Amino acid sequence: MLKDLFIGLSQNQLLNSAAKKYGLKLGAQNVVAGTNVAETMQSIKELNAFGISCTVDNLGEFVFKKEEATAAKEQILEVVEAIHEHGVDAHISLKPSQLGLDIDYQFCLENLKEIIAKAANYDIFINFDMEDHGHLQPSFDMLDELSKDYNNIGTVIQAYFFRAEDDIQKYANYRLRIVKGAYKETEEYAYQDKKDIDKNYIELIEWHLLNGKFTSIATHDHNVINHVKQFVKENNIPNEKFEFQMLYGFRKDMQLQLAKEGYNFCTYVPFGNDWYGYFMRRLAERPQNLNLVVKQVFNK
Ligand code: FDA
Repeated sequence: MLKDLFIGLSQNQLLNSAAKKYGLKLGAQNVVAGTNVAETMQSIKELNAFGISCTVDNLGEFVFKKEEATAAKEQILEVVEAIHEHGVDAHISLKPSQLGLDIDYQFCLENLKEIIAKAANYDIFINFDMEDHGHLQPSFDMLDELSKDYNNIGTVIQAYFFRAEDDIQKYANYRLRIVKGAYKETEEYAYQDKKDIDKNYIELIEWHLLNGKFTSIATHDHNVINHVKQFVKENNIPNEKFEFQMLYGFRKDMQLQLAKEGYNFCTYVPFGNDWYGYFMRRLAERPQNLNLVVKQVFNK
């Protein structure tokens, strides 16, 4: 129930535009690293000091105008430059829809190419975040197209999709982030039962750890993390072949602990004023995250 409510809210464009005007509110400041590049670099440096690397996401959704997509591209190029200049341990996560996928395929491809080319010069990796089913195939198509010229790119496999098993095999030689999946999908394309999603999630992780290039296990689920720790031990999979990832502001103690135990750890660092959809999806995943909101309201 609550999940559907928050997913519905995350798709509300009116609330999204209102939220942009009012800065980080409702507790979003606990899970968004900053509103500008300078603040974000500072947050990254703090995480790097604990041996944690970062993947930086310039928040942005509902982009239907070319000017907005171009502005997002410029902002991401600025982040690429800042990562290089500051010498921080970080790479980029981006969403093709933010760069114009809903406007024009070719326009989006050109925007992506500009970012990837600049990042390649600095040896910075670019991850394509995966969105809902409607954006899935065009995003993979762009990855295929850009892979002809660049190898500093990778993407995400969402375990709730029936097609995930085929996709993970096709993209085995890519650095892949494996997640359960954050959007509301129909039974035509995706598992609906959490047990099925969790089962597929583990199978995909195991397969990619054994057969793939580099696996980012992106979850806050301690059961999955403990399972992976055991699996890599039993199968002699070295730490260089994988990392754990979590979102900025979530399970901070566990993030630090995993890094301390010697595992590669990468925190997903979102920044910017377009925080609304991202924040609502986090509430949908875990209504207990409402605590963040409540604490914020009463701490005023
Ligand atoms: P899940 O929500 O299934 O929770 C399992 C259990 O873990 C809970 O029952 C609880 O016990 C524990 N737990 C979870 N969160 C907790 C918390 N905050 N505190 C304490 N206990 C907690 N999705 C997508 O569709 N496309 C994408 O590109 C990405 N990218 C991405 C990057 C990164 C770094 C992460 C971590 C996640 C994504 N996701 C994503 C989101 C992903 O698909 C998924 O929706 C969320 O990670 C929620 O699922 P989990 O596996 O974290 O645990």
